[in-house]
Amino acid sequence: MSVTTGEFGHRITVQTLSEKKRKGEPIVSLTAYDYATARLADEAGVDLILVGDSLAQVVLGYDTTLPVTMDEMLHHTRAVRRAVRHALLVVDMPFGSYHAGVTKTVENAVRFFKDGGAEAVKVEGGAARVPIIRHIIATEIPVIGHIGLTPQSVHRMGGYKVQGKTAKDIDTLLADAVALDAAGVSALVLEGIPREVAARISREVATPTIGIGAGPECDGQILVFHDLAGLAFNPPAKFVRRYCNAGELISEAIHSYRDDVRSHAFPADAQSYHLPREIQTHLNEDAPKDAIGDEEATSVLKRKQAES
Ligand code: KIV
Repeated sequence: MSVTTGEFGHRITVQTLSEKKRKGEPIVSLTAYDYATARLADEAGVDLILVGDSLAQVVLGYDTTLPVTMDEMLHHTRAVRRAVRHALLVVDMPFGSYHAGVTKTVENAVRFFKDGGAEAVKVEGGAARVPIIRHIIATEIPVIGHIGLTPQSVHRMGGYKVQGKTAKDIDTLLADAVALDAAGVSALVLEGIPREVAARISREVATPTIGIGAGPECDGQILVFHDLAGLAFNPPAKFVRRYCNAGELISEAIHSYRDDVRSHAFPADAQSYHLPREIQTHLNEDAPKDAIGDEEATSVLKRKQAES
């Protein structure tokens, strides 16, 4: 039997991430939650698109990531799947979806694969997650780990605080990273930890590290789309770089639309359809005489002629 790469020839796979680490090529990652933004990210050549559970906050308006459900994550993953042709599509296992035993966890991961078209799942947590991660990987589903400031642990951490600042916490983070690496994760997200700690982890583990608030020595970076685009309503965290202010742009557009509707400036004649002159005379003797028929008007005329 011959093996061909087929459409995977141009797609990013979990193997591509390892190759990039080996070659020292940064892995570009971004979150996306819908068709339009996923398509823009994919067409820009982003390597990894994550349907993050940050969806709960930036799209659904919750205070934390905790309430988002499997069904909601799946719904958005399908939309993103329809847009992505090139990037590796990863989805977050939401809080509660990997905490109720092996069977339920694997069932949820499989749903993301079969129903959502994801190519890897991300699981928050350190060494304590290794047993469940091994089960998911054994089901042929690649897993991406996530340590440091893990937003699903917000109540244990007492807020969204930078992690790994004491010698003890640094040792725990290093041990977590090594344990996840040994368990076979395809990449490791390092969030909200000092640059020096992330650099050490990135050197120490074979798996590629993807940083968010973890400094430039990580093997790749990830940002939340709404932070990058200026669509988040909270003041940005220190680690965010806002590449445009889409919020301001969209707000200005909506204000202009509102004003145009109120002043009858929208819609104008350019946004209006017209009947051909012959039909207009039937409809309204006062109709403008210079009206130009378009395709739709022509078909209306033909239908009228056929009816008469
Ligand atoms: O949910 C998310 O967007 C994430 C990234 C911040 C890594 O987990």
